[in-house]
Amino acid sequence: MNFVYLLVFLTFGTVLCVQDSYKAASIKSANENVDFNSYLPLIVEAGKSDVDILVLPAQEKTESADKYEEAVKNISDAAKKAGLYIAAHLYEGVQCQNKKEIVRSNIVFDREGKTVSVYKKPMNNLTNCTSVDSEGSFKTDFGVTFGLLMGEDLALYKPETFGGLKNFLVLGGFVPQIPILGGPQLLQSWAYVNRANIISPAGIYASGSAANNGNAMIVADLNKEGADPASPPIMSPSQLQDSPAEDLSLYAVKPLDLESASRGLQETVCHGQLCCQFKIKTKLTGTKPLHTYSLAALRGDRAFSRGQRVGVQSCAIFACPGPDGDTCVTQIEWGELNVIFEQINISGNFSKSNTALYPMVVAADTVPLDNFKFDTKVTDQKLASIELTEARVFSAGIFGRDFDRDANTKSTGENNAYSNFYDYIFNDDVLGIIDYVWIRLRILIFVVSIYILEMI
Ligand SMILES: *[C@@H]1O[C@H](CO)[C@@H](O)[C@H](O)[C@H]1NC(C)=O
Ligand SMILES: *[C@@H]1O[C@H](CO)[C@@H](O)[C@H](O)[C@H]1NC(C)=O
Ligand SMILES: *[C@@H]1O[C@H](CO)[C@@H](O)[C@H](O)[C@H]1NC(C)=O
Ligand SMILES: *[C@@H]1O[C@H](CO)[C@@H](O)[C@H](O)[C@H]1NC(C)=O
Ligand SMILES: *[C@@H]1O[C@H](CO)[C@@H](O)[C@H](O)[C@H]1NC(C)=O
Repeated sequence: MNFVYLLVFLTFGTVLCVQDSYKAASIKSANENVDFNSYLPLIVEAGKSDVDILVLPAQEKTESADKYEEAVKNISDAAKKAGLYIAAHLYEGVQCQNKKEIVRSNIVFDREGKTVSVYKKPMNNLTNCTSVDSEGSFKTDFGVTFGLLMGEDLALYKPETFGGLKNFLVLGGFVPQIPILGGPQLLQSWAYVNRANIISPAGIYASGSAANNGNAMIVADLNKEGADPASPPIMSPSQLQDSPAEDLSLYAVKPLDLESASRGLQETVCHGQLCCQFKIKTKLTGTKPLHTYSLAALRGDRAFSRGQRVGVQSCAIFACPGPDGDTCVTQIEWGELNVIFEQINISGNFSKSNTALYPMVVAADTVPLDNFKFDTKVTDQKLASIELTEARVFSAGIFGRDFDRDANTKSTGENNAYSNFYDYIFNDDVLGIIDYVWIRLRILIFVVSIYILEMI
């Protein structure tokens, strides 16, 4: 009898383990092709390898808007054929007061090809015809509740807005005027800070670790509850090829004196109320440094998109091509780096209320988890620090969003509508109850199974 018990436990234990994760996939854009059927072979392959949910690459908006219905049908058929959930970002042309208007649309299909969630947004706010329309989150047959978002949502809303969900589909490219907020860097850091999984056409990010290889399709096993990070949120230049460089003319900047940095240096740079402390020790391979470095601080509001400004606070170090630090504003050529930072410690006193802080690092080396630390501590201020050892960095620092400073753009009315909408959809109480019931149910199922097996 004891042996049977053990067997039951082992079997059940394994089943429970398996149930704690799910399989996600992301297909890289092969071309500018709008024909979704070109992805069918990969989708079928994903189905065969038991992928639960898959995201498709984005399309060119201008051509595809007329083919919305066709695309919906093709993707629905593919989801049914492969037996998995598929999410896509589509453009839909709608007729609006005798003008054609384009609507951005995130749409998710289940294993039967049925639409389970839709999130629509007009391309701009100058319209009376379309408004934001979303189901916010949706549940799956593998026990995971996903938040369905567009790229800019992670930048525009506080993480708490999304009700503590741990799994997100983020689709829909958006190019804000703040480079860092538009690229994969934010996806990765957001996932790291919030211990969340983000599945997007740009890649799959689990608690900061990126499952990205050169393949046409990335597949990753993700822990349903999110997990502790396995690697630090650091990007390589190759992952950021399309990202424009940061505009350092907005920052308070001090050039890094590499001579004293080689002996170990401490420097403070302040911008308004924000003071950033830099502790840096470098060593040089070769005789002459190939780059200069700027220590930078920024506190204020910046243009995010047309007519929209958002509050930011950052402390960071940037590599600049050429001998003259002032030319950092131009595009950094991702070249060879020969300054090794034996230690970087950047800290700042960020404003206490209503901020979200993200570590942002672009480095030429992979950095083990032990060589990276990111801490935030709230006293009478909000102190945050990032520490790195043994890395050649293009940029490293803390990027902060200061949501209080967004207030001056709220007069557009648009932001208000969005925030209220999300406050409602991702209401803590609603999601909390769902989680609570599910956890209870799982324990009940477990206990009952053991009981039944014991009777046999
Ligand atoms: C839908 O599938 C048909 C048939 O394969 C194809 O001709 C068409 O281009 C596809 N359209 C889209 C938008 O994927
Ligand atoms: C939207 O509706 C308002 C009031 O009905 C009207 O004044 C305005 O001109 C409309 N805007 C557009 C772009 O049609
Ligand atoms: C980094 O700086 C912060 C703030 O000054 C400090 O709390 C932390 O101990 C420093 N870490 C190291 C390794 O020096
Ligand atoms: C940060 O420190 C500086 C200098 O000590 C101080 O003037 C400033 O008020 C502090 N900022 C915040 C947000 O507390
Ligand atoms: C729409 O956005 C523009 C900037 O793109 C802004 O100036 C305008 O106030 C906004 N209008 C509404 C009704 O939100």
